[in-house]
Amino acid sequence: MKRSNNRDWTLETLLVHGYEREREEGSGSRKGVPTVQPIYTSTTYLHYNAETLDRAFDTSLSEEKGETAFVYARQGNPNAFALETVMAQAEGGVGAIAFGSGMAAIHAALLAGGLVAGSKILAAKDLYGATTSLLRQAFVPLGVEVVTHDLYRRDVGDIIRAEQPDVVYVETLSNPLVKVIDLDVISAAAREVGAVSVVDSTFTTPFLVRPIEHGFDLVVHSATKYLGGHGDSTAGLVISAKRSLLDQLRNYAIILGAMLSPFDSHLIKRGLQTLTLRMERHCSNALRVAQFLQEHQAVAKVHYPGLAGHPHHELATTLLGEGRYGGLLSFELKEQSRDAVFRFMDRLRLLLPATTLGDAWSLVSYPAMSSHRNLSEAERRIIGITDGCIRLSVGIEDVGDIMGDLERALGG
Ligand SMILES: Cc1ncc(COP(=O)(O)O)c(C=O)c1O
Repeated sequence: MKRSNNRDWTLETLLVHGYEREREEGSGSRKGVPTVQPIYTSTTYLHYNAETLDRAFDTSLSEEKGETAFVYARQGNPNAFALETVMAQAEGGVGAIAFGSGMAAIHAALLAGGLVAGSKILAAKDLYGATTSLLRQAFVPLGVEVVTHDLYRRDVGDIIRAEQPDVVYVETLSNPLVKVIDLDVISAAAREVGAVSVVDSTFTTPFLVRPIEHGFDLVVHSATKYLGGHGDSTAGLVISAKRSLLDQLRNYAIILGAMLSPFDSHLIKRGLQTLTLRMERHCSNALRVAQFLQEHQAVAKVHYPGLAGHPHHELATTLLGEGRYGGLLSFELKEQSRDAVFRFMDRLRLLLPATTLGDAWSLVSYPAMSSHRNLSEAERRIIGITDGCIRLSVGIEDVGDIMGDLERALGG
């Protein structure tokens, strides 16, 4: 059985067919080759003889020679390897490493990026809360200088040149106000000052943007969200543009014990097969819902880059493409109070009030209660998150049903 070279495939085809069947071909026996990669639960691997075992220790740590062998599951497993290979191709990187969660992926990316005592990281002010906590609680005590700024500004290049950081860390879209980052300006300025550039692309996925093509060194994902897409697996990924960073990442994954399990690797990889279809629907539904909310009498403001009035609408159209603004939006109730938001949440019948995003079903969260709970009301106000602000991860259900549930909950 001959298979074509997948380097020419489009993202849609690559994500459906993945990689494993090519690899499994070699193991074809009279019993046939499975169309789905088996889940390898083994913690350790046997080799033909001591010499091949010896070589396996080398090749398990580096795919440079085009061969990968498995020795011990914490150092990698065939299911994680298949996922990593597909995601590296999807993002246009030299390789990827799968981690046990998005946070584990971010931790390893920051270490691989060179955060050691005396180094400096410049990070966006409104990062995902746990990422800010990771910087403050794990890196500051080690002697890393953490500087935060509004990096969604037009003069972000000047900020980077003035700060001269070792690492620049941003998110493609901000949470929950869905601001859009200027990847090209940031990567160019980071390169100028010799900083490693790292971006969390969880909200955009390779369907909307491939940050390595915009000059970034490391791309991070919480695969728990859109990549898995079904709310049943926790995982993270880092894709590297450079071999040296990839080797560091693999090393940290092994010594931190942060590798993704075979079963979760299988689930995320299965999710990837429908990623492009789901993302198309997330985007079209979110645009309709944003337009609906904008017209609603109980709503004061909608934050969605697909709306012409959003401050980053033009940048979003250039970066992500016409009509492709992602599935995440937030809106503010006219009645700016916790009571009004709680009433809204309790009236929902279809949308789930649960604290995640990117699942097939629509999800509602209240930033003041969840992602930004640890900030004071004053701190939240500085970054623009009011007490009436609600985040909506628009799912792939029928858009009429989604709007119907919103209408009922808004008291229409
Ligand atoms: C943008 C972003 N990055 C990273 C994470 C952390 O991912 P995980 O929960 O898989 O550790 C999250 C979680 O919500 C997130 O929203």
